[in-house]
Amino acid sequence: MKLFLDTASVQEIRDAAAMGLVDGVTTNPSLVAKEQKPFNEILKEICSIIKGDVSAEVTAIDVDGMLKQGRELAKVADNVIVKVPLIKEGLVAVQKFKSEGIRCNVTLCFSPSQALLAAKAGAYIISPFVGRLDDISEDGMNLIQQILQIYNNYGFETQVLVASCRHPLHIVDSAMMGAHIATMPFKVYDQLIKHPLTDIGLQKFLEDWKKAK
Ligand code: G3P
Repeated sequence: MKLFLDTASVQEIRDAAAMGLVDGVTTNPSLVAKEQKPFNEILKEICSIIKGDVSAEVTAIDVDGMLKQGRELAKVADNVIVKVPLIKEGLVAVQKFKSEGIRCNVTLCFSPSQALLAAKAGAYIISPFVGRLDDISEDGMNLIQQILQIYNNYGFETQVLVASCRHPLHIVDSAMMGAHIATMPFKVYDQLIKHPLTDIGLQKFLEDWKKAK
């Protein structure tokens, strides 16, 4: 299972990548806007730190605009994955991008029927947003289960990237279900390793060791 960071902060990416277990990065326009730096500059820097997939989202909502922006983004580095929204124009763009060898992450997925269409269009990654479904009292992880089953039934190669993860349980559930990727904020990534019994146990071992003859 791949673990991605959901951030455009180069500092956070450097900090998390230091442990050596970050497989990729996802960004979105809201995350990029927080950074107050030109997007291409940020993207170049992220791609120099992370060798795995780095998703960069288009902001155009018409096919030609998406294609223009996506082609520019894809030129920044070989590991850039062009992120497009799950709207009709987005799925038309995905098919065109695929024919040009540009890989797409289809984002803002909230239903299994949307995920089916994205896979048929040739998406490299589908991004269902679990946290935002939980926020409106719908079971986000149930959507992941449904998409995995549909993709498995027909052998779709589209990878399921669990997005909008809010806490470590979303990551554990994703792993239990066999999702290919989970992306998470730095705070959630940092929580994955923590357990109070590990800290207490380590402290005790070290104290006992000091007392040993
Ligand atoms: O990058 C897409 C997604 O992970 C956003 O998460 O927390 O804004 O719903 P969130």
